[in-house]
Amino acid sequence: MYATGGGSSAIDSASRNRLKMPPVLDAKQSGRIELIAQLGKTEFLEGRVSASLGFNQNYLGPTIVIGHDQEVATSIKNRWSRPISVHWHGLLVPGAVDGGPHLPIATNGTWKPILPIEQPPCTAWYHTHVHERTASQVYHGLAGIIQVQDGRDDDRGLPSTYGVDDLTLVLQDRRFSPDGKLDYGLSMMDVMHGFVGDRIVVNGQIDPVAVVPRGIVRLRLINGSNARIYTLSANDNRPLHLIATDGGYLPGLEPMDSLMLSPGERAEVLIDFSAGKGMTLVSDGDPNQGPAGMMGRFRRTMDFFVDRSFDVLPFRVDAQMPARINELPANLGGTLAKHSRSPDVSREILLDMGMMGGMMMGGSGMMGGFAINGRPFDMDRLNFEIAQGSLESWRVRSPMLAHPFHIHGVHFQILSENEREPSVQNRGWKDTVLVDGEVELLVRFDQTASREKPFMFHCHILEHEDRGMMGQFAVV
Ligand code: C2O
Ligand code: CU
Ligand code: CU
Repeated sequence: MYATGGGSSAIDSASRNRLKMPPVLDAKQSGRIELIAQLGKTEFLEGRVSASLGFNQNYLGPTIVIGHDQEVATSIKNRWSRPISVHWHGLLVPGAVDGGPHLPIATNGTWKPILPIEQPPCTAWYHTHVHERTASQVYHGLAGIIQVQDGRDDDRGLPSTYGVDDLTLVLQDRRFSPDGKLDYGLSMMDVMHGFVGDRIVVNGQIDPVAVVPRGIVRLRLINGSNARIYTLSANDNRPLHLIATDGGYLPGLEPMDSLMLSPGERAEVLIDFSAGKGMTLVSDGDPNQGPAGMMGRFRRTMDFFVDRSFDVLPFRVDAQMPARINELPANLGGTLAKHSRSPDVSREILLDMGMMGGMMMGGSGMMGGFAINGRPFDMDRLNFEIAQGSLESWRVRSPMLAHPFHIHGVHFQILSENEREPSVQNRGWKDTVLVDGEVELLVRFDQTASREKPFMFHCHILEHEDRGMMGQFAVV
């Protein structure tokens, strides 16, 4: 990793540019979302320009704010030379408007789905999801954040001033060629372990500093990386108070020493800056990287090989900034994920890497073994058909590497992780969960999806998804 070790951060924050927030697109007021996918030019590294992709801007898209019980009219134009799509990751909407691989938008085409929003407040995101092209398109910038709001954060005692005490942080890692262009050249290793960059990019910026008021600050963390798994903590060991997972608020605060965030997952945390001291958000290395990566669960005993910790984002306190919240709230009014009946159906899901393991261990296996239950994704084959309203338990297993497992159109409960109680960060409602061994989920399928426009379920390491670690199902 390029950056220095986490424990000893002595970042010269004075020389850094201040972190910017993506612009806000307020659909809560207007009831409308208008996006234009376009080619852009981005100066990630000073004085050097890279081609990039964005919605309404050069790289990434606006932060879309929508009401929790609102119908939103959208218009998405594609001004780029290849088909794209817009999937609403974390919104509970039907398959017909979900924006997956069956709903591509051709060049110069416009897609106008109407989104019937009815769900608790949460941080979600949107990104392109075109068959076999998701990884490269997201890498170049076709993604953005969604905030589902109910206007009651004051009652909860939560910070909610965008960009002041409520920061949206899209965490990504990228590689750059010497002339500053985004580099997405994939080696065989990048495909197998997932592509990781050697530079951290937050909201599209390299080496920024976040400036915050002297009080309680909320971070909405989105792992928008193609493959990197972050294990986040404060370099001075102050707690990250978890307040929300993918699906929304928890009942109360959960103080965490560190928080794992795999691609596609979101977490909201509160950080106490009331003592006036800054800190640096740091991360441990990605458990899927390094020579021990392929050895499945044994790698936990081989941390020695795993790549090192690094800085993600320094925070500086500006006492002149208005601090609106000075105390941690006690009660958030959210719920733990809990279904009260037993499942109607049970399924087994195997996240497969075929022969590749054998190859890594010195065998002679072949490339291209990404699959689910032994079969790679096929646009024309449904994995299963689910009755609307049915409650299912899914046992998801990953014998090799840790894979972030995502299901469209639902928020689920995690019953167990490797036969134990779910970790604290997995007790809320989720739509994406890191499977490192075995995870058991309980899912109710309320949103419909036709056979022609089914929902996806897949590994959110985008290199794996694009190569076949994905399946699809109808809900009828
Ligand atoms: Cu965030 Cu099917 O994806
Ligand atoms: Cu999704
Ligand atoms: Cu995977």
